[in-house]
Amino acid sequence: MKIIGGPASQSLAQHVSRILKAQIINVEHKLFPDSESYFRIMGDIRDEDVTIIQTTSPPQDVRLIQLLLLVDGVKDLGARSITAVVPYLAYSRQDKRFMSGEVVSVISILKIIRAIGVDKLITVNVHSPKSLSDIMEIDDLSAISLLAEHMKEMGLVNAFSLAPDIGAIDIVRESASVLGGGFDWLEKVRDRVTGKITIKERAFDVKGKDAIVFDDMISTGGTTSSAVGILKKQGARRVYAACVHPLMVGNAKDRIKNSGAEEIIGTDTVPGPYAVVSVASIIAEALKQGGDQRY
Ligand code: R5P
Repeated sequence: MKIIGGPASQSLAQHVSRILKAQIINVEHKLFPDSESYFRIMGDIRDEDVTIIQTTSPPQDVRLIQLLLLVDGVKDLGARSITAVVPYLAYSRQDKRFMSGEVVSVISILKIIRAIGVDKLITVNVHSPKSLSDIMEIDDLSAISLLAEHMKEMGLVNAFSLAPDIGAIDIVRESASVLGGGFDWLEKVRDRVTGKITIKERAFDVKGKDAIVFDDMISTGGTTSSAVGILKKQGARRVYAACVHPLMVGNAKDRIKNSGAEEIIGTDTVPGPYAVVSVASIIAEALKQGGDQRY
Protein backbone atom coordinates (compact mmCIF):
# COMPACT_ATOMS: atom_id res chain seq x y z
CA MET A 1 0.00 0.00 0.00
CA LYS A 2 1.18 3.54 -0.81
CA ILE A 3 -0.06 6.59 1.08
CA ILE A 4 -0.77 10.05 -0.25
CA GLY A 5 -1.43 12.93 2.12
CA GLY A 6 -3.74 15.57 0.72
CA PRO A 7 -3.00 19.23 1.52
CA ALA A 8 -5.44 19.20 4.47
CA SER A 9 -3.99 16.12 6.19
CA GLN A 10 -0.25 16.14 5.53
CA SER A 11 0.84 15.54 9.09
CA LEU A 12 -1.85 12.92 9.79
CA ALA A 13 -0.75 11.03 6.65
CA GLN A 14 2.91 11.13 7.79
CA HIS A 15 1.85 9.83 11.19
CA VAL A 16 -0.18 6.95 9.68
CA SER A 17 2.67 6.01 7.32
CA ARG A 18 5.16 5.93 10.23
CA ILE A 19 2.90 3.54 12.16
CA LEU A 20 2.40 1.26 9.15
CA LYS A 21 5.93 1.70 7.78
CA ALA A 22 4.19 2.36 4.48
CA GLN A 23 5.69 4.54 1.76
CA ILE A 24 4.40 8.07 1.32
CA ILE A 25 4.11 9.20 -2.27
CA ASN A 26 4.93 12.89 -2.42
CA VAL A 27 2.60 15.22 -4.20
CA GLU A 28 3.50 18.62 -5.52
CA HIS A 29 0.69 21.03 -4.74
CA LYS A 30 0.54 24.62 -5.92
CA LEU A 31 -2.20 27.19 -6.17
CA PHE A 32 -2.78 29.00 -9.41
CA PRO A 33 -3.19 32.80 -9.06
CA ASP A 34 -6.98 32.33 -9.03
CA SER A 35 -6.68 29.77 -6.17
CA GLU A 36 -7.31 26.63 -8.23
CA SER A 37 -5.21 23.66 -7.08
CA TYR A 38 -2.47 22.09 -9.22
CA PHE A 39 -1.28 18.58 -8.32
CA ARG A 40 1.57 16.42 -9.54
CA ILE A 41 2.01 12.90 -8.15
CA MET A 42 5.76 12.45 -7.64
CA GLY A 43 6.05 8.66 -7.60
CA ASP A 44 5.04 5.52 -9.48
CA ILE A 45 1.67 4.21 -8.37
CA ARG A 46 0.83 1.97 -11.33
CA ASP A 47 -0.87 -1.24 -10.10
CA GLU A 48 -0.55 -0.10 -6.47
CA ASP A 49 -3.22 0.01 -3.78
CA VAL A 50 -3.24 3.69 -2.87
CA THR A 51 -4.66 5.31 0.25
CA ILE A 52 -5.40 9.04 0.03
CA ILE A 53 -5.82 10.85 3.35
CA GLN A 54 -7.59 14.19 3.10
CA THR A 55 -10.00 15.65 5.62
CA THR A 56 -12.80 17.92 4.44
CA SER A 57 -13.20 20.31 7.35
CA PRO A 58 -13.59 24.01 6.41
CA PRO A 59 -12.87 25.23 3.80
CA GLN A 60 -14.81 22.09 2.92
CA ASP A 61 -15.58 22.79 -0.74
CA VAL A 62 -11.91 23.49 -1.51
CA ARG A 63 -10.82 20.36 0.32
CA LEU A 64 -13.44 18.22 -1.37
CA ILE A 65 -12.30 19.34 -4.81
CA GLN A 66 -8.68 18.63 -3.82
CA LEU A 67 -9.71 15.12 -2.73
CA LEU A 68 -11.55 14.49 -6.00
CA LEU A 69 -8.64 15.76 -8.12
CA LEU A 70 -6.22 13.50 -6.25
CA VAL A 71 -8.49 10.45 -6.57
CA ASP A 72 -9.05 10.96 -10.27
CA GLY A 73 -5.38 11.68 -10.90
CA VAL A 74 -4.28 8.58 -9.02
CA LYS A 75 -6.78 6.45 -10.89
CA ASP A 76 -5.72 7.89 -14.22
CA LEU A 77 -2.08 7.06 -13.39
CA GLY A 78 -3.01 3.39 -13.08
CA ALA A 79 -3.56 2.69 -9.36
CA ARG A 80 -5.08 -0.74 -8.74
CA SER A 81 -7.41 0.41 -5.96
CA ILE A 82 -8.10 3.60 -4.07
CA THR A 83 -9.06 3.94 -0.42
CA ALA A 84 -10.03 7.45 0.65
CA VAL A 85 -9.55 8.29 4.31
CA VAL A 86 -11.72 11.32 5.00
CA PRO A 87 -11.50 11.76 8.79
CA TYR A 88 -14.08 14.56 8.85
CA LEU A 89 -16.68 14.07 6.14
CA ALA A 90 -18.15 17.42 5.14
CA TYR A 91 -21.91 17.79 4.73
CA SER A 92 -22.54 14.81 6.98
CA ARG A 93 -25.17 16.60 9.08
CA GLN A 94 -27.52 17.03 6.14
CA ASP A 95 -28.17 13.29 6.08
CA LYS A 96 -31.91 13.33 5.52
CA ARG A 97 -34.70 15.45 4.09
CA PHE A 98 -35.76 17.32 7.22
CA MET A 99 -38.05 19.62 5.21
CA SER A 100 -39.59 18.95 1.81
CA GLY A 101 -37.42 19.87 -1.13
CA GLU A 102 -34.13 19.72 0.74
CA VAL A 103 -31.04 18.22 -0.90
CA VAL A 104 -29.63 15.31 1.12
CA SER A 105 -26.10 16.67 0.78
CA VAL A 106 -24.08 13.85 2.31
CA ILE A 107 -25.61 11.33 -0.09
CA SER A 108 -24.73 13.61 -3.03
CA ILE A 109 -21.14 13.85 -1.76
CA LEU A 110 -20.85 10.08 -1.37
CA LYS A 111 -22.21 9.48 -4.87
CA ILE A 112 -19.53 11.82 -6.26
CA ILE A 113 -16.77 10.12 -4.23
CA ARG A 114 -17.94 6.71 -5.46
CA ALA A 115 -18.32 7.83 -9.08
CA ILE A 116 -14.81 9.31 -9.25
CA GLY A 117 -13.33 5.91 -8.40
CA VAL A 118 -12.96 5.47 -4.64
CA ASP A 119 -13.28 1.76 -3.80
CA LYS A 120 -13.54 2.19 -0.06
CA LEU A 121 -14.11 5.13 2.24
CA ILE A 122 -12.81 5.39 5.81
CA THR A 123 -14.31 8.08 8.04
CA VAL A 124 -14.15 8.88 11.76
CA ASN A 125 -17.34 9.33 13.80
CA VAL A 126 -19.36 10.38 10.81
CA HIS A 127 -22.51 12.15 12.00
CA SER A 128 -24.93 9.37 11.11
CA PRO A 129 -23.28 6.39 9.39
CA LYS A 130 -26.45 4.28 8.94
CA SER A 131 -27.75 5.30 5.51
CA LEU A 132 -24.29 5.87 4.03
CA SER A 133 -23.24 2.25 3.59
CA ASP A 134 -26.09 1.81 1.06
CA ILE A 135 -24.17 4.12 -1.26
CA MET A 136 -20.64 2.68 -0.98
CA GLU A 137 -18.33 0.58 1.19
CA ILE A 138 -17.59 2.69 4.25
CA ASP A 139 -15.69 1.94 7.44
CA ASP A 140 -16.60 4.46 10.13
CA LEU A 141 -14.11 4.45 13.02
CA SER A 142 -14.63 5.79 16.51
CA ALA A 143 -12.15 8.12 18.19
CA ILE A 144 -14.09 8.28 21.45
CA SER A 145 -11.99 5.75 23.35
CA LEU A 146 -8.84 7.64 22.30
CA LEU A 147 -10.33 10.88 23.63
CA ALA A 148 -11.50 9.22 26.84
CA GLU A 149 -8.08 7.58 27.38
CA HIS A 150 -6.51 11.00 26.96
CA MET A 151 -8.87 12.49 29.55
CA LYS A 152 -8.09 9.60 31.89
CA GLU A 153 -4.40 10.45 31.58
CA MET A 154 -5.34 14.04 32.49
CA GLY A 155 -6.68 12.70 35.79
CA LEU A 156 -10.37 12.62 34.87
CA VAL A 157 -10.95 9.07 36.05
CA ASN A 158 -14.60 8.59 37.05
CA ALA A 159 -15.64 11.81 35.37
CA PHE A 160 -19.31 11.89 34.34
CA SER A 161 -19.91 11.87 30.54
CA LEU A 162 -22.78 13.97 29.18
CA ALA A 163 -24.22 13.86 25.66
CA PRO A 164 -25.73 17.23 24.69
CA ASP A 165 -28.40 15.38 22.69
CA ILE A 166 -29.70 11.85 22.22
CA GLY A 167 -27.71 11.55 18.97
CA ALA A 168 -24.51 11.41 21.00
CA ILE A 169 -25.69 8.63 23.31
CA ASP A 170 -23.37 5.98 21.80
CA ILE A 171 -20.49 8.41 22.23
CA VAL A 172 -21.02 8.83 25.97
CA ARG A 173 -21.70 5.13 26.44
CA GLU A 174 -18.26 4.49 24.93
CA SER A 175 -16.52 7.23 26.91
CA ALA A 176 -18.08 6.06 30.18
CA SER A 177 -16.82 2.53 29.52
CA VAL A 178 -13.28 3.97 29.59
CA LEU A 179 -13.67 6.64 32.29
CA GLY A 180 -16.27 5.13 34.60
CA GLY A 181 -18.32 7.86 36.26
CA GLY A 182 -21.57 7.10 34.40
CA PHE A 183 -23.26 8.88 31.51
CA ASP A 184 -26.49 10.59 30.59
CA TRP A 185 -27.90 12.85 27.89
CA LEU A 186 -29.87 16.03 27.34
CA GLU A 187 -32.77 16.69 25.05
CA LYS A 188 -31.99 19.18 22.29
CA VAL A 189 -34.37 20.60 19.73
CA ARG A 190 -33.09 22.59 16.74
CA ASP A 191 -35.34 24.98 14.86
CA ARG A 192 -34.87 23.80 11.28
CA VAL A 193 -35.34 27.27 9.83
CA THR A 194 -33.37 29.52 12.19
CA GLY A 195 -30.90 26.87 13.43
CA LYS A 196 -31.56 28.03 17.01
CA ILE A 197 -31.28 25.27 19.59
CA THR A 198 -33.23 24.72 22.79
CA ILE A 199 -31.91 22.32 25.41
CA LYS A 200 -34.21 20.99 28.09
CA GLU A 201 -32.48 20.86 31.46
CA ARG A 202 -32.47 17.67 33.54
CA ALA A 203 -30.93 17.05 36.95
CA PHE A 204 -27.69 15.07 37.16
CA ASP A 205 -25.71 13.79 40.12
CA VAL A 206 -22.64 15.95 39.44
CA LYS A 207 -22.27 18.16 42.52
CA GLY A 208 -18.55 18.42 43.32
CA LYS A 209 -17.67 15.96 40.53
CA ASP A 210 -15.72 16.30 37.29
CA ALA A 211 -17.73 16.05 34.08
CA ILE A 212 -17.13 16.02 30.33
CA VAL A 213 -19.51 17.07 27.57
CA PHE A 214 -18.81 14.76 24.62
CA ASP A 215 -20.11 15.34 21.09
CA ASP A 216 -19.19 14.26 17.59
CA MET A 217 -18.45 17.86 16.59
CA ILE A 218 -18.40 21.41 17.84
CA SER A 219 -19.40 23.93 15.21
CA THR A 220 -20.66 27.25 16.62
CA GLY A 221 -20.29 25.96 20.17
CA GLY A 222 -23.97 26.58 20.98
CA THR A 223 -24.74 22.97 21.86
CA THR A 224 -21.64 22.33 23.96
CA SER A 225 -21.74 25.66 25.80
CA SER A 226 -25.37 25.08 26.83
CA ALA A 227 -24.53 21.61 28.17
CA VAL A 228 -21.43 22.88 30.00
CA GLY A 229 -23.51 25.68 31.53
CA ILE A 230 -26.10 23.21 32.82
CA LEU A 231 -23.42 21.06 34.48
CA LYS A 232 -21.76 24.08 36.08
CA LYS A 233 -25.13 25.37 37.34
CA GLN A 234 -25.73 21.98 38.94
CA GLY A 235 -22.47 22.24 40.88
CA ALA A 236 -20.03 20.17 38.81
CA ARG A 237 -16.43 20.80 39.90
CA ARG A 238 -14.50 20.89 36.63
CA VAL A 239 -16.25 20.58 33.25
CA TYR A 240 -14.39 19.77 30.01
CA ALA A 241 -15.61 19.95 26.42
CA ALA A 242 -14.55 17.06 24.20
CA CYS A 243 -15.40 16.32 20.60
CA VAL A 244 -14.00 14.38 17.67
CA HIS A 245 -14.28 17.20 15.12
CA PRO A 246 -13.43 20.64 16.57
CA LEU A 247 -14.69 22.83 13.72
CA MET A 248 -14.83 25.76 16.15
CA VAL A 249 -16.63 28.24 13.92
CA GLY A 250 -16.71 31.96 14.80
CA ASN A 251 -16.65 32.64 18.52
CA ALA A 252 -17.17 29.00 19.54
CA LYS A 253 -14.11 29.06 21.80
CA ASP A 254 -15.32 32.10 23.77
CA ARG A 255 -18.85 30.73 24.08
CA ILE A 256 -17.60 27.45 25.51
CA LYS A 257 -14.98 29.04 27.79
CA ASN A 258 -17.50 31.61 29.03
CA SER A 259 -19.93 28.83 29.91
CA GLY A 260 -17.34 27.50 32.37
CA ALA A 261 -15.36 24.81 30.49
CA GLU A 262 -11.78 24.26 31.61
CA GLU A 263 -10.52 23.09 28.23
CA ILE A 264 -11.68 22.10 24.75
CA ILE A 265 -10.22 18.83 23.52
CA GLY A 266 -10.60 17.51 19.99
CA THR A 267 -8.77 15.36 17.44
CA ASP A 268 -6.73 15.93 14.31
CA THR A 269 -9.65 15.05 12.02
CA VAL A 270 -9.77 18.86 12.03
CA PRO A 271 -6.19 20.18 12.08
CA GLY A 272 -5.62 23.20 14.32
CA PRO A 273 -5.28 24.31 17.92
CA TYR A 274 -7.87 21.84 19.30
CA ALA A 275 -6.35 18.75 17.64
CA VAL A 276 -5.00 17.41 20.92
CA VAL A 277 -5.54 13.70 20.22
CA SER A 278 -4.42 12.00 17.00
CA VAL A 279 -6.62 9.51 15.16
CA ALA A 280 -3.57 8.10 13.30
CA SER A 281 -3.51 4.86 15.32
CA ILE A 282 -7.12 3.89 14.54
CA ILE A 283 -6.72 4.77 10.87
CA ALA A 284 -3.52 2.71 10.66
CA GLU A 285 -5.25 -0.22 12.34
CA ALA A 286 -8.23 -0.03 9.94
CA LEU A 287 -5.91 0.07 6.92
CA LYS A 288 -3.96 -2.88 8.30
CA GLN A 289 -7.10 -4.92 8.86
CA GLY A 290 -8.76 -4.00 5.61
CA GLY A 291 -6.13 -3.92 2.99
CA ASP A 292 -3.04 -4.90 1.19
CA GLN A 293 -0.16 -5.73 3.54
CA ARG A 294 2.56 -5.01 0.94
CA TYR A 295 4.08 -1.71 1.99
C1 R5P B 1 -25.61 17.84 15.86
O1 R5P B 1 -26.47 17.00 15.97
C2 R5P B 1 -24.17 17.58 16.20
O2 R5P B 1 -24.01 16.36 16.83
C3 R5P B 1 -23.59 18.67 17.09
O3 R5P B 1 -24.24 18.64 18.34
C4 R5P B 1 -23.77 20.02 16.46
O4 R5P B 1 -23.42 19.99 15.12
C5 R5P B 1 -22.98 21.07 17.16
O5 R5P B 1 -23.22 22.29 16.55
P1 R5P B 1 -23.03 23.64 17.32
O6 R5P B 1 -21.63 23.62 17.91
O7 R5P B 1 -23.18 24.70 16.27
O8 R5P B 1 -24.08 23.73 18.36
